[in-house]
Amino acid sequence: MSIDQTSQPVKPLRIAVLVSGSGSNLQVLIDAMQAGALPIEIVGVISNRDDAYAVTRAKDAGIEVAVLSHVESGKRMGIKTFEKHATAQLEAWQPDLVVLAGFMRVLSADFIDNAPAPMINLHPSLLPAYKGLDTHTRVLCSGEREHGCSIHVVTAELDAGQVLSQAVLPIRHTDTPDSLQKRVQVLEHQLLPWTILQIAIGGVSLTPSEQASSILPALPLRLLIDA
Ligand code: GRF
Repeated sequence: MSIDQTSQPVKPLRIAVLVSGSGSNLQVLIDAMQAGALPIEIVGVISNRDDAYAVTRAKDAGIEVAVLSHVESGKRMGIKTFEKHATAQLEAWQPDLVVLAGFMRVLSADFIDNAPAPMINLHPSLLPAYKGLDTHTRVLCSGEREHGCSIHVVTAELDAGQVLSQAVLPIRHTDTPDSLQKRVQVLEHQLLPWTILQIAIGGVSLTPSEQASSILPALPLRLLIDA
């Protein structure tokens, strides 16, 4: 069991994770949960792809998985249908926090506003710069000197919610989109669990009113990581 700064036991944060791909970030959370290194309980994983390796990772860890990829006729599930099933699933799991970790569908304002828990997203750029896709290529083409990743609150506007935390690296003259992707992923694997730990122990708040009245450092919190 984890202990906060006042030595009180921390109630595990119930987390639902939405994924679309490899799930390496999900694996980091699974490993930390199983090691007792993070006060979380992953109550379920939702994937919009049946071929996502994240599904295998979740099942191997004995975590409940909902794959919402196709309708009965075999067609790919439309976003409205996905959201209807995802809402029902989240309501059943009752998470405290929904984590989008490599989840590659754009969610509607209606779904986000009515979600049963706050949502955070992991994005591979130093927001507000480079919202959207292909961030590593765009960063290199623009001649940036720094790059990294951000965790932000999910709002209806894409990649535009309050940025909670960022991890930063210096771009090397030898970097390619592929090398940057790998280096940023090293950052992601530290930023995501660290940020969730901050949320769990009250080191960062998700609501604007609490953020405004907080004695804690102004957001985003920034980590400099050598990757
Ligand atoms: C991450 O690199 C994230 O930045 C992007 O999708 C990737 C997900 O990786 N949005 P994984 O599925 O956690 O391995």
